[in-house]
Amino acid sequence: MAGAAAAGGQGWSSRTAFILAAVGAAVGLGNIWRFPTLAGENGGGAFVLVYIAFVVLLGLPLVLSEILLGRAGGEDAIGSVENVAVKSNRSRNWRGLGALQITSGFLILSFYSVVAGWVINYVFISGGDFFGSLFAGDPFSVAFSGESQDAITGRMGELFADPGRLILLHALFMAATIGIVASGVHDGIEKAATWLMPAFFVLLVIVTIYGAFKGNFEDALAFLFTPDFSKLTPTVLNEALGQALFSLSLAAGGLLTYGAYVGKDVNLAPTAGMIALADTTVAILAGLMIFPIVFAVGLDPAGGPALIFQTLPVAFNAMPGGALVGFVFFILIFFAALTSSISLLEGPTAWVIDRFGWTRKKSAFIVGLVAFLIGVACALGYNVWSDIRPLGFWGIFAEADILDTLDGFTGKIMLPLGALLVAVFVGWKADRRLVESESGLSGGMFAFWRFLVAWAAPVAVSLVLLFGLIPGLLGD
Ligand code: TRP
Repeated sequence: MAGAAAAGGQGWSSRTAFILAAVGAAVGLGNIWRFPTLAGENGGGAFVLVYIAFVVLLGLPLVLSEILLGRAGGEDAIGSVENVAVKSNRSRNWRGLGALQITSGFLILSFYSVVAGWVINYVFISGGDFFGSLFAGDPFSVAFSGESQDAITGRMGELFADPGRLILLHALFMAATIGIVASGVHDGIEKAATWLMPAFFVLLVIVTIYGAFKGNFEDALAFLFTPDFSKLTPTVLNEALGQALFSLSLAAGGLLTYGAYVGKDVNLAPTAGMIALADTTVAILAGLMIFPIVFAVGLDPAGGPALIFQTLPVAFNAMPGGALVGFVFFILIFFAALTSSISLLEGPTAWVIDRFGWTRKKSAFIVGLVAFLIGVACALGYNVWSDIRPLGFWGIFAEADILDTLDGFTGKIMLPLGALLVAVFVGWKADRRLVESESGLSGGMFAFWRFLVAWAAPVAVSLVLLFGLIPGLLGD
């Protein structure tokens, strides 16, 4: 397959390579701890049903929309949208949609890398633990053996209080991301995805089977799937859609950019379907991996970072073979985070290559460096700058530190806005015949997909934006 001549004439070497890269972008920190806790706290099976409905009815149509825009445009995210606008006799200003998306991806990268640094911290801790017990002749020992629960959970606070360590780990992760993107679409991104994603799946299945045998699978099933429809408030619906956008890597330039590297012979509709299916399957499997372990030792399925950085380490401390399983677990999260961060860096990097004519290496390095510096501010927000509330004047961000502000602002405002613009552009503005031929759909299927993009997505995403910005509008 000949790749498209985008961003330095690079392209995927096969359809499989593209699918692995796009699934790699989709499967990340969002799947492994955000989805399971959101589901558990917001009505279990009811949330899962709503989430799946959003993925199928809105996420999937938008994934196809973004990939086809990228392929039809054949450049970086901004150039591609501009090209399609021109081919469709529309204003060039639609490229602002690409600019918004690239900015979102860039900002997400800056804090994503900080969180990925925490993961590296635990790869080191659990790795040291495992190899320590291995050399002591006890490979199947528990993790953190000899430590009290308080000492284990306290390790996160120690990390957060140490700006030097946070920044160093963040730098390590960003350097790995830059190194891969700088090596090119084929020799870097594609190679990383084709090694890391299969490894990720194998590790995921291993830990899930371990949890199914050694953990409390029954309680986990009940927690994740018992539907409680009374918990489906507007805020929860809002979160479900936001999570669907984030998890599918929509609206942040990644799919637009990856789409430009797809050859013309690839049928995009089934490809988009596989990406959405794989992402959702991993999210649900992640829940089935994590909660049996948490419940086995009678712990509270606490939300947020505490779940993987405090609750699970305590569980690994109480379970046979916990040192090994914990080490495997943190490596698999690291792989998932890395294949996502490269998609976040590739978007702005491709634009810099096209716009300034710099080499890929220089572009990736400079974009990554600036994102790193913003991330440093996020890391300092946990210690020296912990009093700073960047958007403290704005109700929904009043409590948010630097990292949470960036996360909330991109997730609640920029991503929905980027998705809304894609839906309007593809559904209403782009040339219909161009869109149809790129989509690989025809007849009734095409009409249905176009309806979802032109009507369902804009209405649903507008509602989310409204409820996201004006919480409590209709009561909660
Ligand atoms: N989807 C990834 C996750 O679930 C994060 C991510 C990668 C992302 N690329 C993106 C989110 C683009 C939004 C947009 O962790």
